[in-house]
Amino acid sequence: MKNIDPRTLKLNVTDMWTTTWFLLTAGDRQNFNAMTIGWGSMGVMWNKPFIQVVVRPGRYTFEYMEKYPTFTVCAFPKQYRKALTLLGTTSGRDSDKIEESGLTTIESKKVDAPSYKEAELILECKKMYRQDMNPEHFLDSDIMKNYPNQDFHRIYFGEIVGISADERFIG
Ligand SMILES: Cc1cc2nc3c(=O)[nH]c(=O)nc-3n(C[C@H](O)[C@H](O)[C@H](O)COP(=O)(O)O)c2cc1C
Repeated sequence: MKNIDPRTLKLNVTDMWTTTWFLLTAGDRQNFNAMTIGWGSMGVMWNKPFIQVVVRPGRYTFEYMEKYPTFTVCAFPKQYRKALTLLGTTSGRDSDKIEESGLTTIESKKVDAPSYKEAELILECKKMYRQDMNPEHFLDSDIMKNYPNQDFHRIYFGEIVGISADERFIG
């Protein structure tokens, strides 16, 4: 795993979000939780490289996103899809799903939220902005179909303060 400058990171962003998915982990070295995420974005905001993730308030991970200042977003090789499915369909409230997933947590380089030995891409992030989605601002009526329970996501922008990745992610 190499340290990568955000400006040289090579990602097929849409493909990553829709087919590879990511694992969002929030907390610190002792207390953390993780969940699979499939919606979000990356770019530059306020002159800083960012990843933006959206978390519904009912998720256990939401409590960690609120309480702790940092999070990580990790991508894994295809063979870990089963682990990501488990982490995206069960709650850390009900079981030690990270242990059950078989993934190995490791210390991150720049933030307290942990990352994973098996990851091929690790984005270390510092929360910089959050906002609740406001349905009054939905301009496309299709969006509402995602919220039959009115559990609108909270949006988090995290500054990417460190990237470790496999060489194939270097542009
Ligand atoms: C492919 C996939 C993508 C997902 N994307 C999101 C997402 O972007 N935001 C979200 O709030 N939940 C998303 N989920 C659902 C959470 O991962 C799921 O509810 C998880 O069990 C929450 O775990 P927790 O209660 O331990 O936080 C996704 C699930 C899957 C399988």
